[in-house]
Amino acid sequence: MLNFEFKNPVKIIFGKGQIAKIAQEIPADARVLLLYGGGSIKSNGIYDQVMSALTGFDVTVFGGIPANPEYEVLLRALNVIKSNHITYLLAVGGGSVIDGTKFLSAAALYQGEEPWDILKNKIRTDKGMPFGTVLTLPATGSEMNSGAVITRAATQEKLGMGGPGLFPEFSILDPLVVKSVPQRQLANGITDAFTHVLEQYMTYPAQAFLQDRFAESIMQTLVEIAPRIQKDPADYEAAANFMWCCTMALNGLIQKGVPTDWSVHAIGHELTANFGIDHARTLAIIVPVHYRYNFETKKEKLAQYAERIWGIKEGTPEQKAEQAIIRTESFFHSLGIDTKLSKYTDDYQGTAEQIEARFIERGWLGLGEHKTIKPDDVRKIVQLSY
Ligand code: NZQ
Ligand code: ZN
Repeated sequence: MLNFEFKNPVKIIFGKGQIAKIAQEIPADARVLLLYGGGSIKSNGIYDQVMSALTGFDVTVFGGIPANPEYEVLLRALNVIKSNHITYLLAVGGGSVIDGTKFLSAAALYQGEEPWDILKNKIRTDKGMPFGTVLTLPATGSEMNSGAVITRAATQEKLGMGGPGLFPEFSILDPLVVKSVPQRQLANGITDAFTHVLEQYMTYPAQAFLQDRFAESIMQTLVEIAPRIQKDPADYEAAANFMWCCTMALNGLIQKGVPTDWSVHAIGHELTANFGIDHARTLAIIVPVHYRYNFETKKEKLAQYAERIWGIKEGTPEQKAEQAIIRTESFFHSLGIDTKLSKYTDDYQGTAEQIEARFIERGWLGLGEHKTIKPDDVRKIVQLSY
């Protein structure tokens, strides 16, 4: 097991009817900016619950943060923060609204000229404007971590940011919100969380027995509840387990003491930036080809995963590992998710070369748990996904 430090300060308030507790978490004299997305919270009743919990607070509202939170839109919110002397942010939404809020938390206190530099120059945020979240869509884990991913349409970029100052102060996880989530987003949420676990697990054995079993238990639970939640998003027990799996998949715990490989996300973000493909779907496109391409370095963990998640007991370790990739792809298909780039766009020729060039330009010259996946390998992986 590798050495590690672990600190996660987010207060989780989990369960039915917990949105009403917001008021206890925000200072009474705060000037609050409530941020939301395209309007689902208006039709499913979450907005009304939040507003009623905020009775007596000084609240300004900013809606319209799109999926894959867009820099230009966030700059408008930043103006509101400055002109209204906002002191506290409240994100009500999925990963996009929460990530957008994290960007604003950093940008509100940022001293530089151009807030995009926070992303471009990878500036770590040690102190941001305080914020809380009300999660409406289980998927990203953003509600309990300190990272965010922001899109800039003008330059077709999608870049990450973060820092210890960007943990939410609190996050309300009420599984009742899941009942209005559309099928497409349920499938995305399961796929995203499942891949988060894979990225922190599918490397090489590190003698971290507990971390492996944490990771495996999340994947097993997601596989178990996926058909239930897709059949009936109002199934509270399935929704509660789905939500907690998604949060636990990316709150930092399972990656402590083990090697990680975030290549699938790094490549996937480029596919979203280029084609607007939903985040989770880009992961499903890259996972199978990434594991095939890097089979030799990952086969021991692939075989362990084959046995423990998919119950594959027969065959050599290589055969089990190969079966593991096939079963993973079938799992994504069972959710209604395509795993080939050509299923999402006809315009895919040249994508691999473009991503290779971008990685070279950014100096991303060695990805993966061994830092040996070069831009040239990335090009070949993307070509395999066509
Ligand atoms: O915008 P509204 O109208 O609210 O509709 C949203 C949106 O269209 C809808 N939705 C959310 N909750 C709902 C609902 N519809 C009905 N009922 C509800 N209760 O779902 C759509 C998608 O929402 P979005 O927030 O975009 O989805 P998700 O949570 O999957 O977030 C994706 C973003 O998070 C980033 C992704 O790159 C992407 O930009 N990620 C953030 C991470 C992090 N901060 O740790 C890690 C992830 O790997 C990921 O990169
Ligand atoms: Zn993800």
